[in-house]
Amino acid sequence: MLGFIKRNENVLGVDIGTACIKVVAFEEAGDTVRVAGYGLAEVEQEGKRAEALREALKAAGVSGGRVVTAVSGRSVTVRYVTMPTMSDAELRAALPLEADKYMPYDVAELYLDGQRLAIGGNEQEMRVLMVSAKKGLIQDHVAMLQQVGMSPAVIDVDAFALGNAYEFSERGGEAEGASGDVVALVDIGASKTSINIIKKGISCFTREVYVGGRDLTEVIAKRLGVDPAAAETLKRNPGERNAEVMDAVTSVAEDLGNEIRLSFDYFESQFEDEVQRVKLSGGGARLAGFDNALQGVFGKPTALWDSVGRLQVASGVDPAGLKDHAAQFAIAVGLAARIRARI
Ligand SMILES: Nc1ncnc2c1ncn2[C@@H]1O[C@H](COP(=O)(O)OP(=O)(O)OP(=O)(O)O)[C@@H](O)[C@H]1O
Ligand SMILES: [Mg+2]
Repeated sequence: MLGFIKRNENVLGVDIGTACIKVVAFEEAGDTVRVAGYGLAEVEQEGKRAEALREALKAAGVSGGRVVTAVSGRSVTVRYVTMPTMSDAELRAALPLEADKYMPYDVAELYLDGQRLAIGGNEQEMRVLMVSAKKGLIQDHVAMLQQVGMSPAVIDVDAFALGNAYEFSERGGEAEGASGDVVALVDIGASKTSINIIKKGISCFTREVYVGGRDLTEVIAKRLGVDPAAAETLKRNPGERNAEVMDAVTSVAEDLGNEIRLSFDYFESQFEDEVQRVKLSGGGARLAGFDNALQGVFGKPTALWDSVGRLQVASGVDPAGLKDHAAQFAIAVGLAARIRARI
């Protein structure tokens, strides 16, 4: 799934979500990287994804450049495994056989990737991040991009892009300053929540939980006795019905918070270290008060994460729209961040 980005080439991070397409384009300007354009378009209904993609690309106003995109969901499997220490070339050769032990599907159906991790392991053994995606998922994703005349240079995974966004946007800031700090990035999309636990700048654990913004809308519709469209509007602008909306979403906050807590527990037992902070992104996290509701369940300091706040913006690009949807752009930022060769 890996690819290469040449220097001085614009990179387009294209996040094809279930409810919304997000595009962020980065360009190099001397030693820095800045936003050359961005776009966001909601998928009005299933089957209209390519239209939304066109709309988001048009809004970004950038033509050309390398395309970096991501897949997610149940057809993507991530495993952190221990293998005997070997070179990268040996790892590539050993991957299909090793993957056969860990992947839930026949390896013939899968695209595989493996990467040695700079954390854990010893002289004899190394920790390896192993990723697989069903060929059909990748083919569908590529076909979608081809419909708009694009061919991806790199296909990443949502949860890793989230980690890259953190490394990129916080570099030189708290991520480095807090060397031993453990941060959990939690992206609440429409259909799923991606978790990536980062220790010393390295992803140690990722997981997806299939709960998201759609479940919030559903429970609001049910509890407040309104149709889905009205529930969606209320979720975004609860106004004086705020208390009712928060009450309605309590069960989802509990379910999601408990699942997230299980991930923290697992990480903490494996790494004998504690998650210190939780940074939320994704459109689902925009529901006012949901950060507090989640914090109440898993008991860790939790706040919305602004993944675009530190980015420089090219002239002619309106920073306000980017800021307005900061939560939703995190994954696209992480994808475009591949403009920096080291991630
Ligand atoms: N202002 C808002 N307040 C609350 N929820 C919002 C707001 N704006 C958007 N959302 C919700 O955010 C979700 C979309 O977020 P996002 O773009 O992160 O999802 P996605 O990437 O399309 O989904 P997934 O990652 O699950 O495929 C939708 O469920 C939408 O209802
Ligand atoms: Mg998403």
